[in-house]
Amino acid sequence: MLSNKRAKELVNKYGTPLFVYSKDIILDKINELRENFLEKHDNTEAVYAGKAFLCKEMCRILKRENMSLDVVSGGELYTAMSVEFPENKIYFHGNNKTIEEIKTGVEYGVNFIVDNENELNNLIQITDNLNKKINILFRVSPGVEAHTHKYIITGNVDSKFGFQLNDYLLKVLKKAINSNTLNFMGFHFHIGSQLFDVSPYIEAIKKITEYAKRIKKELNYDIKILDVGGGFGIKYTDETEPKINFFTDKIMETVQNEFKSKELIIPKILIEPGRWLIGKAGMTLYKIGTIKEIPDVRKYVSVDGGMTDNIRPALYGSNYDAVVFNDLDKNEIEKITLAGKCCESGDILIKDIELPKLKTNDIIGVLSTGAYCYSMSSNYNKLPKPAVVMINGSEDKLIIKRQSYEKMIEDEL
Ligand code: LLP
Repeated sequence: MLSNKRAKELVNKYGTPLFVYSKDIILDKINELRENFLEKHDNTEAVYAGKAFLCKEMCRILKRENMSLDVVSGGELYTAMSVEFPENKIYFHGNNKTIEEIKTGVEYGVNFIVDNENELNNLIQITDNLNKKINILFRVSPGVEAHTHKYIITGNVDSKFGFQLNDYLLKVLKKAINSNTLNFMGFHFHIGSQLFDVSPYIEAIKKITEYAKRIKKELNYDIKILDVGGGFGIKYTDETEPKINFFTDKIMETVQNEFKSKELIIPKILIEPGRWLIGKAGMTLYKIGTIKEIPDVRKYVSVDGGMTDNIRPALYGSNYDAVVFNDLDKNEIEKITLAGKCCESGDILIKDIELPKLKTNDIIGVLSTGAYCYSMSSNYNKLPKPAVVMINGSEDKLIIKRQSYEKMIEDEL
């Protein structure tokens, strides 16, 4: 993504740690979605999961590209609203939306993914009071297990998210269908993240079709939308990354077969890629600081960021790859451990990686940090949040300023 020269120019201009996003990669991904999903299959919609990385510029790009957006909080919604993101293309998720968040979403006119009965009751009351009509989907937890880190599995039975496909849901659905202000469109599920296997999606679709048949029989209602969530895996180190249609072709085929065979109307299919769209579009540039060698044990090379800008290795044991931007002989390879600067032994970005020899002040780029790094960043140890720059061909543009110490304590009384 970057040459030595370019990496140095960016670092000189914006400092480190620095997130660098490539607009070309983002647009390539959107085009891949268009060619292999949206244009290949009728009645489909692609919804970017903003939690992976969201800022005003990202919203502007999505808006220009006619993409939809999944938001999970008042803050994400506010970001989308700040660039006048079309309300009918926003999907509001979350298992504990506050009254204020619901009011804002209803006033703006977004689609809601209803997670539980409390939320439904709040929605009925708020839409009634505001005299607004909105579209809703119900989030269901279809009871399938996905093979990924346990913190990012979401579609199993014991989950804080969504409804089980049972009698209770039928009762709640009746309430929604009878409401004058809510337009019940269908179901949403999200099984987990960083998945490489399409079978849990297939299994979930089959369970939902069974349930859709029950709704047809007992409530005489056809679902119009099925949102199969995100979760499509990407390559960080040794993974083999499938193309999007490895997932979507099979998903579409299953939907067609299952709904047809049960004589049900085929619903519109939504997907919600987050990591898949943005993960590889971002990298983080750091400056090398201290280097400590413990003979026969390990060489620690520390950078000027760490778990504050990338919590994933510490939280999930995630692996990353890196590239070195320096002028030394690239053939002199050594094994090092790349450490962050936080006061925490677990603040290791990459354990045991073979890289060209590094020295203090060299620049290193940790790759594929576009998803769930800046968005999960913190001010732990009072480290300011990094700057984010977007490159587009030979141009670069600051899209999020580096946080200053003043800004960091601005709201402290
Ligand atoms: N839709 C819903 C309802 C979700 O909960 C998620 C992710 C997505 C879509 C997007 O999933 P993706 O395509 O990005 O896998 N912080 C974790 C990932 C948590 C994902 C939570 N939900 C990580 O860093 O791996």
